[in-house]
Amino acid sequence: MSGPRILAIESSCDETGVAVVVGGRRIEANQVATQVALHAETGGIVPEVAARQQLRWIVPTLEAALAEGGADWGDIDAVAVTYGPGLIGSLLVGVNVAKALAVTHDLPLIGVNHIEGHIYANWLLDGDATDVLSAEPEFPLLCLVVSGGHTQLVLMTAHGRYRLLGQTVDDAAGEAFDKVGRLLGLPYPGGPAISAAAEHASPATRFPRARTSGPYDFSFSGLKTAVLREVEGYRERAEPIPVDGIAAAFEEAVVDALATKTVAAARDHGVAEVALGGGVAANRALRATLAERLREDGLTLRVPRPAWCTDNGAMIGAAAGFRYQAGDRADAALEAIPNLALPWIEG
Ligand code: KG4
Ligand code: ZN
Repeated sequence: MSGPRILAIESSCDETGVAVVVGGRRIEANQVATQVALHAETGGIVPEVAARQQLRWIVPTLEAALAEGGADWGDIDAVAVTYGPGLIGSLLVGVNVAKALAVTHDLPLIGVNHIEGHIYANWLLDGDATDVLSAEPEFPLLCLVVSGGHTQLVLMTAHGRYRLLGQTVDDAAGEAFDKVGRLLGLPYPGGPAISAAAEHASPATRFPRARTSGPYDFSFSGLKTAVLREVEGYRERAEPIPVDGIAAAFEEAVVDALATKTVAAARDHGVAEVALGGGVAANRALRATLAERLREDGLTLRVPRPAWCTDNGAMIGAAAGFRYQAGDRADAALEAIPNLALPWIEG
């Protein structure tokens, strides 16, 4: 694989990721330092703690990535970094380190949107990929981005061209998983914990599906309240709470909502392929259910490896590969933007 060799940094939240990616697709190194154990103690992310950990881990992670890839600074063509959306303190660490690296090694700097990174994780080449999966995703591509901070249905018509079809009107899907996990007394982060609890359980109830005004919008706060009521009911009756069964019912409701809207959007827009991205895309039930429902419509689902769904540097390197080819360059004026949006096109 040819193309630029990019050193990419991701520090928008509680993961410190540094990767070396060639041609926007082939991973030569991908190191992630996670703060999950630390935030499990507080049951969630404390922004200042996350930022201090970014500062603590950025240099060791960078060194580990360079060692893993066996890359010399002379082999690197550009430095890329997530500059938003995310937590300001966390973002600042990556952005400033990236700027310093670009200046000291006289390399171009590329700013990447974190959500764009989640989408481009679908371009990363899997070592075990079959020929079909090693082909690039085809446009128009429908992307369901489901993370701790975002839930968006994005129609991608070409590289860098995004149309927002729908999004959550309240909580993000990952946020709902995390809040419900806490409610059920499961460890942080709630997503993987709920998924594990639900794995061998049958749903204890059927939670109502939310109605939204937009055809491709989502709403999860009502579901969270329904889970709370269900748990309170058991408490009032002094009955043991069937945690696994409630987790299964919650996961079923979230997956059903995500899959239903995604299939509808794919059908209505005649897309070539559908892709998943973001931490919640690591969810086994979501991957399986969505793939099955799309198959009924003759569509295939792209899913990055679970480790490439949660925050990492490789996905930033993938997005930066395309931005590099398009001639996008940032400079020392690049700033961290906590509420950065994708450059939406109207449609
Ligand atoms: O993309 P990500 O790593 O960070 C953000 O950009 O937000 O996503 C983190 C979110 C968390 O809410 C976490 O609970 C959720 O992804 N998550 C999962 C799973 N793994 C991570 N949710 C459901 N099932 C999973 N297996
Ligand atoms: Zn993310």
